[in-house]
Amino acid sequence: MAIHASELNSAAVEVEGISKRFGEAVQPHRLMPWRKAKKPKLALDQVSMHVESGRITGILGANGSGKSTLIRILATLLTPDAGRASVFGSDVVRHPAQVRRHINRVSVEASFFKEMSPWENMLYAARLYGSGGDGTRDRVEAMLERLGLPLDTLDKPMKQLSRGQQQKVAIARSFLTSPSLLLMDEPTTGLDPRSKREVQELVRSIRRDRAATVLLCTHDLQEAEVLCDRVVVIDQGRVLAEGTPSDLIRAHAAPSGSLEDAFMRLTGKRLEEDEEEKEE
Ligand SMILES: Nc1ncnc2c1ncn2[C@@H]1O[C@H](COP(=O)(O)OP(=O)(O)OP(=O)(O)O)[C@@H](O)[C@H]1O
Ligand SMILES: [Mg+2]
Repeated sequence: MAIHASELNSAAVEVEGISKRFGEAVQPHRLMPWRKAKKPKLALDQVSMHVESGRITGILGANGSGKSTLIRILATLLTPDAGRASVFGSDVVRHPAQVRRHINRVSVEASFFKEMSPWENMLYAARLYGSGGDGTRDRVEAMLERLGLPLDTLDKPMKQLSRGQQQKVAIARSFLTSPSLLLMDEPTTGLDPRSKREVQELVRSIRRDRAATVLLCTHDLQEAEVLCDRVVVIDQGRVLAEGTPSDLIRAHAAPSGSLEDAFMRLTGKRLEEDEEEKEE
């Protein structure tokens, strides 16, 4: 969808003081000593942010920092416990149907009809959004070619495709309906190096054309540095810093560091350590 110059710099997403807690408190019990005390998990703690239209904004954070929770709230799949969020002026809690008209989410756990082919899955999605007429097949083929997916995979059952191939279909599907806000939750995680580049090139073309607003969660800080106009660093559900990649480098990794250096300094821990914690 083309964005008019007047819409540039206006907010695509406004998030004000969003909090989200998961799970209920569990108290220790005299008769059930195996039941350990548990506190509810505060996944988002009064997060506020402003995302401009026609830009690519990166959300960076270690595992479990709350990125996907924020994306799911904006996609109307979860409701916040406190705070407000709106997408192109529509409140995600009060007007979810209006919000859904503007967005499309790409995530590693994309859902498909596995017995159906990529083509059938895409046609289904396109028709739900009122498109899917003449020319759709050509558009889909062009998109898959761009993503480096062999055309003969288009008519095989989805379940026969590798995970990376399925991810490319999810990305192609999200572009088919021309959403004004693309919520990309780790779109390149698990892709081989060539596929990763192809997806990044596609995202770069969105930036070139200012065709959509993109919110991109990624662990790849080099990817964030080259693709994002702005980045927001979150840690344990809180916004730690935001700005252009060069702002953050200047402020936290001067004089000649990378966005990764700035991220490490800001969060004070390494991504790998967090990964280990998660596995324990
Ligand atoms: N449905 C849920 N039920 C309980 N806890 C949850 C649920 N979803 C997320 N959490 C918890 O909320 C916190 C934030 O999770 P979230 O998935 O948003 O993190 P993330 O930043 O996307 O992490 P990753 O980089 O691993 O994808 C984590 O501690 C997670 O365990
Ligand atoms: Mg996540």
